[in-house]
Order: sequence, then structure tokens, then C-alpha cells
Amino acid sequence: MTLQTTAPETRAAAAPALAPGLAITGLTKELGGRTIVDSFDLVLERGELVALLGPSGCGKTTTLRMIAGFLEPDAGTVEIEGRDVTDLGPEKRPSAMVFQNYALWPHLTVFKNVAFPLTLKRLSKAEISARVMTALETVGLTHHAESRPAHISGGEQQRAALARAIVQEPGLLLLDEPLSNLDAKLRVRVREEIREIQQRLGITTVMVTHDQEEALAISDRVAVMNAGRIEQVGAPADLYANPATTFVASFIGSMNWLAGPTVAAARAGAAAAAAADRAAESWAVRPEDVRFEAVPDGEATILRVLPHGHFSELVIDVAGLELRAVASGAGPRSGDRGRVLLDNVRHYRDGLLAGRVEDAR
Ligand SMILES: Nc1ncnc2c1ncn2[C@@H]1O[C@H](COP(=O)(O)OP(=O)(O)O)[C@@H](O)[C@H]1O
Ligand SMILES: [Mg+2]
Repeated sequence: MTLQTTAPETRAAAAPALAPGLAITGLTKELGGRTIVDSFDLVLERGELVALLGPSGCGKTTTLRMIAGFLEPDAGTVEIEGRDVTDLGPEKRPSAMVFQNYALWPHLTVFKNVAFPLTLKRLSKAEISARVMTALETVGLTHHAESRPAHISGGEQQRAALARAIVQEPGLLLLDEPLSNLDAKLRVRVREEIREIQQRLGITTVMVTHDQEEALAISDRVAVMNAGRIEQVGAPADLYANPATTFVASFIGSMNWLAGPTVAAARAGAAAAAAADRAAESWAVRPEDVRFEAVPDGEATILRVLPHGHFSELVIDVAGLELRAVASGAGPRSGDRGRVLLDNVRHYRDGLLAGRVEDAR
């Protein structure tokens, strides 16, 4: 597809649809006799950040390596900004990848590490220098241009690896668990920096992570992956509110699983469900949709109160059924008696969302 061949004013009339930033169709890979990535489809708008989220071993890195060109797919295509790159090597693709372990050269300075992909392209010294300094400025690392990787912190190494990717001015940025080697506090800060830079530069980005909180916090959309396939793709709030499968419901946020649509039914069904096939039918409710009302001699008892700072998690026993709830501020205490009301109970049949039950008791 030919794009942007006319001035913006005249383009508006014809309005040719811009090809997506990334379009993956039917991507499949078998390794060691197992299908690791299975008919994977995903389309990203230009400038969009999509997190590829799933448990360890579900095929995220394998997928990313095929998008980058480091691994040849058995079937399927990869198109970047409308161009089919499936048969091109990584250096011929307009993509840049940040590896989980950063893969910085220990004997080279930060400047030379960032310059490395440009020296391969045989750009002039002056242009390399200008682009490297711009990239280092973007990630806030100019003061470490002459440092070696071993002499800067983990967060700074991460930023150097990011600079080495964006210096290539890629059409597509690929990040493989970029934050997993950082401690919790730094992880939050660096992920916000990555998001800010990604939005400022408008780079189409796929970020692989196994951390659902991280995925929800910085993505335009999240693609939840399970056993080589995408289970669901959606905006963070949408995935949280409407998990389409029991896998997504369990993986994103926390969930109470019930053997019936109401507390009474769940309690009655608990024993039967434990013996019967549980997968066929189940009901799920988020802790924030479980309300505890103090009532003298109520059938529910608070077993534990787990303080999280600005809220507390309650573990409640309802005549043998254990539920988790959220309470704000001080109030409920362990041993308190009351009753439990449920909102937004989701009904799953054969692993798929089948409907909702409102105001269940
Ligand atoms: N070269 C290979 N040969 C055989 N199995 C592999 C190979 N590479 C990866 N795998 C397997 O594929 C599965 C998915 O791996 P990977 O894509 O790295 O998962 P993730 O990044 O989601 O943790 C794992 O079970 C892994 O052991
Ligand atoms: Mg991986």
C-alpha cells in the first residue's frame, strides 16, 4: 500500500486507511515436537502499546522473536506498517528489540553500546554521534555516555538498552520483560518512563510481560496469552471488567470462585462441586464486589484482616465457604459477625463467560 504520497489537505478527501503498525496473521511455531505458538493473530494500530501477557512458558518470547525475525515461523505472516517482512532477517526489519537481560556489551561504553546498531548501518560518525546523544537524552542518560554497563545501576542499564533500540528510529519496538530484573519500586518508575517515551515518540510497541499489574498499568490494550494462543485482547479496564474466559478471570486481578450463583447456592454446592467436574460450570466474583455487613449472629465471620495500607483485604467464612473481600479504612475486625452480599457475579460455562448475576446473596 502506498501511503502519504499526497499533501495532508488532499489526503483528507481520499482518506486512505493507514496500514496498521503491526499485523500478525496465523503465526505458528513448533519446537521440540510441541506447538509453542498456535495460529496467533494480532493487529496493532500505529503508536499503540500492546502488552503480551501470560504465564511463564506460554510462548511470549517465541512470538516476539518471530515478530523481530530471530526465529522463522512454520506458518503465518508478519506485516509492519503494511509491509510483509515475514521472509526478512532481523536487520532488514524496521523493528528493534530490547532483550530481557539487556544484552549490553560489557567492554563498551554506554555511548558505544547505543551507537552499535548505527555503526552496522555504516552511518557517518557525525550522524551517529548526534543520534546517540539524542537517544541518551530521551532516556535521561547523557551523563553516563562514557560509563561502562557494570558501573551503572540496573535501571540505567535498562535505559541504555532502550536507547539502543530507539536510536534506530524503529517503526516497531519489541520489549521482552524489560522490567523483570529491577526491584519493585524501580520497576514502577521505569515502566512509567517507558510509557512516556513510547507515547512521545509515537512508536508502535509490543511489550512482553508475565506481570498483570504492569500490563494493565501501561498498555493501550492487553493480549492475554495461554498455551501459545491469545485468549482475549482488550483495553485494561475492559479485560478486568469482562474477562471472557476462566483463564483470563483467574489471571487478571483476584477472584473468588464459587460453585453457585449465590452465597447460599455456593455453600450448598461446595461439597458437591468438590467431587463433581468443576470446569463445566463456575461463578466468579471480585473481592471488591463482596460486601460484608455487620449483623449480630450473622452466618458470616471475618477470619482475617490483611492490611494493604489504603485498604484491607478480608478473609470471610460463610458457614464453611471462604471468600475474600475488600474493605476501605479501619472498620471490620477479625471475629466480627455479619452477612455477605455479592455484586457482579460472573457465570462461566465450559470455561467461557455465559452471563452475570446481579445482587446475589
Ligand atoms: N528451542 C526450543 N526447543 C524446544 N522448546 C523450546 C525452545 N524454545 C522455547 N521452547 C519452549 O517453548 C515454550 C515457550 O517458551 P517461551 O516462548 O520462552 O515462553 P515465555 O516467554 O512465555 O515464558 C517453553 O515451554 C519452552 O521450554
Ligand atoms: Mg519469555
